[in-house]
Amino acid sequence: MDTPTDFNDRMLSLGLARVSEAAAHASARLIGRGDEKAADQAAVNAMRDQLNKLDIRGTVVIGEGERDEAPMLFIGEEVGTGEGPVVDIALDPLEGTTLTAKDMPNALTVISMAPRGTLLHAPDVYMDKLAVGPGLPENVVSFDMSPSERVFALARAQGVKPTDITCCILERPRHEDLIREVRSTGASIRLITDGDVAGVIHVAESEITGIDMYMGSGGAPEGVLAASALKCMGGQIWGRLTFRNDEERGRAYKAGITDLDRIYSRDEMVTADVIFAATGVTNGSIVKGVRREPHFIETETILMRSKTGSIRRMIYRNPIR
Ligand code: FBP
Repeated sequence: MDTPTDFNDRMLSLGLARVSEAAAHASARLIGRGDEKAADQAAVNAMRDQLNKLDIRGTVVIGEGERDEAPMLFIGEEVGTGEGPVVDIALDPLEGTTLTAKDMPNALTVISMAPRGTLLHAPDVYMDKLAVGPGLPENVVSFDMSPSERVFALARAQGVKPTDITCCILERPRHEDLIREVRSTGASIRLITDGDVAGVIHVAESEITGIDMYMGSGGAPEGVLAASALKCMGGQIWGRLTFRNDEERGRAYKAGITDLDRIYSRDEMVTADVIFAATGVTNGSIVKGVRREPHFIETETILMRSKTGSIRRMIYRNPIR
């Protein structure tokens, strides 16, 4: 018989896909409507409804924010029917609210689930991220290297020229120096305006996406979601929290983090087996976006389990009645 500590990831994974599908369906009506908040709210409501149908004793550890600022799916919220395994949940009901509002590529609904106590409780601050795909030597790149050294090291490991390397970086003023230095190596850069969970996942499928390395800072919660995905797909990610003021440092202490300079590897952000689901809202390189036809809505979901390394891409067609 299952005990509350049995994760039961195989059985739960389809349920997890339903959760991310529902969020994508709900936000689909708001693609390209210029209303980030409405799109996010629709995804949150749908994700929560579906999560509460799952037989889990779940706690949201990466969510929409603290209880006082997020009425639903707040950090610490209990979800599920209250029966079944005791799990931690990291979610971003709409990763790329602006991408959705402007109908730009790679907006996703994202969720991961793991046994209780095994996902890093990342506070809502920035995280410096560095990620590469599977099949490379361990620690082939690191935070100790300068951005250009990372490009040279990766090129060496892949047996290619630096000019054959493509890095993905969020287009932000804070990344100007990083972008300049990477360009000085001759490497190419895919700049993204938002959505660094997708940005990181790109490195795991470089043959499809053309991206070899992810660098730069983005949300720390998104870092844990990206680590969950890479734990399933293979690939390495490192994250280091960054703080702009004492208030942000306080958020880390509140989340139980004492070493503020710590560099987290993938397996330190996600310490046990994890399941991960993401559904396309707008079209992207990982999954297609929601397709609305007069009589049906279609979504594509990537569903993965780290225990087996299995990756499913599932098309779901739902009639409009
Ligand atoms: P939202 O979906 O919450 O708008 O986040 C999008 C995002 O681009 C993340 O993917 C990324 O981690 C973060 O915002 C970057 O933050 P900032 O826009 O402050 O640079």
